[in-house]
Amino acid sequence: MLCDQYREKPALCVDYTGKGFLQRLKKITPKSELLIKAVNKKPGGKVLDMTAGLGLDAFVLAAYGHRVVMVERSRVVYLLVKDGLRRAAEQSALKSIVARLELVHGDSTVLSSLFGAGLPERFDVAMIDPMFDTRKKSALPVGAMQMLQGFLGSGADLQPFFDAARDAGVPRTVVKRPRLDRYQLSRGERPVYQLMGRSHRWDIFFNHS
Ligand SMILES: C[S@@+](CC[C@H](N)C(=O)[O-])C[C@H]1O[C@@H](n2cnc3c(N)ncnc32)[C@H](O)[C@@H]1O
Repeated sequence: MLCDQYREKPALCVDYTGKGFLQRLKKITPKSELLIKAVNKKPGGKVLDMTAGLGLDAFVLAAYGHRVVMVERSRVVYLLVKDGLRRAAEQSALKSIVARLELVHGDSTVLSSLFGAGLPERFDVAMIDPMFDTRKKSALPVGAMQMLQGFLGSGADLQPFFDAARDAGVPRTVVKRPRLDRYQLSRGERPVYQLMGRSHRWDIFFNHS
């Protein structure tokens, strides 16, 4: 549990067993979840989540049937997610979903420091969801994510994530951004297409080595 003693906010606890989230998991389809569409794989795909955060996107992918390796840099967030996964695995309905998730603590832009010379497996897709920049009003996150942002800070250079995914031979990268956000990659990569949601969008890139 993460408590912010300076603001009167409820403590942050990662819980995949809430009623609303369980309802969401029950009806996951490419139509209901933009992320599933962005990944564009039949169940059984292998996804590298380079910015695990609270693990919600990864959990949705695993509920659809994908296998996900989630990498989280913050030790505190890693421990919160680990605790959430442990409690989820105690529920029979969620056990098989948790079995498709692997959580790794470390910096996903330096994959060699996590997995040695080669990745443990070949990934179909890399997923990147860095912290949105709070200076932009439209990018303000809500609830738990807001608290996490206060704790971790915001803003991230996307290029190192891209380079790491490409160097590891991952053919497709999907990036979550606020709906109207603009950014430019220093090496000039552009999304091949975008999927627009109400508050955010997914940008899809094909990696050429
Ligand atoms: C916006 S959150 C991701 C939210 C996540 N998609 C979810 O569904 O809960 C971004 C997370 O990426 C993590 N992060 C940022 N840079 C990272 C890096 N280089 N390697 C691993 N994790 C990183 C941050 O610590 C933060 O927890």
